[in-house]
Amino acid sequence: MPKIVLLPGDGVGPEILEEATRVLNAVAQKYGRTFEYQSCPIGGIAIDEYGDPLPEVTLQAFESADAILLAAVGGPKWDKETAARRPETGLLRMRKALGAYANIRPVAVNQSLVDSSTLRPEVLEGADMVIVRELTGGLYFGDKGRKQTGTPEEQAFDTLIYSRSEIERIVRVAFDLAKGRRRKVTSVDKANVLESSRLWREVVEQVAADYPEIQYEHALVDSCAMQLIRNPRQYDVVVTENMFGDILSDEAAMLTGSIGMLPSASLGNRVALYEPIHGSAPDIAGKGIANPSGIILSVAMMLRHSFGYEAEAAAVESAVGKVIEQGYRTADICRPQDKRVSTSEFGSRVVEALRA
Ligand code: IPM
Ligand code: MG
Repeated sequence: MPKIVLLPGDGVGPEILEEATRVLNAVAQKYGRTFEYQSCPIGGIAIDEYGDPLPEVTLQAFESADAILLAAVGGPKWDKETAARRPETGLLRMRKALGAYANIRPVAVNQSLVDSSTLRPEVLEGADMVIVRELTGGLYFGDKGRKQTGTPEEQAFDTLIYSRSEIERIVRVAFDLAKGRRRKVTSVDKANVLESSRLWREVVEQVAADYPEIQYEHALVDSCAMQLIRNPRQYDVVVTENMFGDILSDEAAMLTGSIGMLPSASLGNRVALYEPIHGSAPDIAGKGIANPSGIILSVAMMLRHSFGYEAEAAAVESAVGKVIEQGYRTADICRPQDKRVSTSEFGSRVVEALRA
């Protein structure tokens, strides 16, 4: 019986996680599966309760987990805290503790959402890519600090550091993924300025030599940011370092109509972590209007990657697609002619579509 650790976190987190578990229960019922859940604190709520954004109880639960499902962390309440007491620090420590270095963010444009985007439909139609974001290195984890604190000359620094082995393993993930897709890898860097990017390019070229059947290219991150909205269909697998991947995946999310649509899987060691790419959206928390699609689609990724339940995963994805096609939309993707539904109504529709 797979054990899933649930991390509701902050903001809209608990609301969307609720819908994700309803969908999981519907899957269990329909396919005769049993899931064991354990809900644990992380983020701001964990700071309030335990004085630690990633408390020991949660770390311990990971030991016996088969997969982890995170909703979202963060909020204005903890914005003035020091790094150690910030919700996001809990998330970063968790990614590191799990060795979850490969963050897979699929971005596929749903035809029924092409006119929910701020971009023109003819630009979006058919776009289908996966962003492979390095998740446990780079600026997020390099040495950081302050110098000459309290003086007018006070300095702050963050270090963008990567080793060959860190680059190689993530680049291999991208090339392996490309084999099962359109066989094209775009590696994104800033090699015209950054030394870490020049090493990145070297490693990409070495790895590429092992994959003669895969076409690959290098792109500079600024140019890629532009090309993503100019002609997104050119991309198949995009691989990049942590911060570039963070930024480009939010940008790419807008191709799908809303950041609320995108799921992700973070793979590395034994236990994988699944999370929507969006944050805790404190501005809409508690209103019941958040889009649960991102976390529900993350559940599908979990069923596929962690449990090997391919049919179940495909059923969840198709259920979300059906609900959207039927015109049921949360506020973020709702056009005037659509039927606007709440977070939980959307979840109910997905469950219904699954059962049908
Ligand atoms: C994401 C988020 C996180 C990140 C934040 C919440 C720390 O933006 O998963 O993309 O930057 O990795
Ligand atoms: Mg982000």
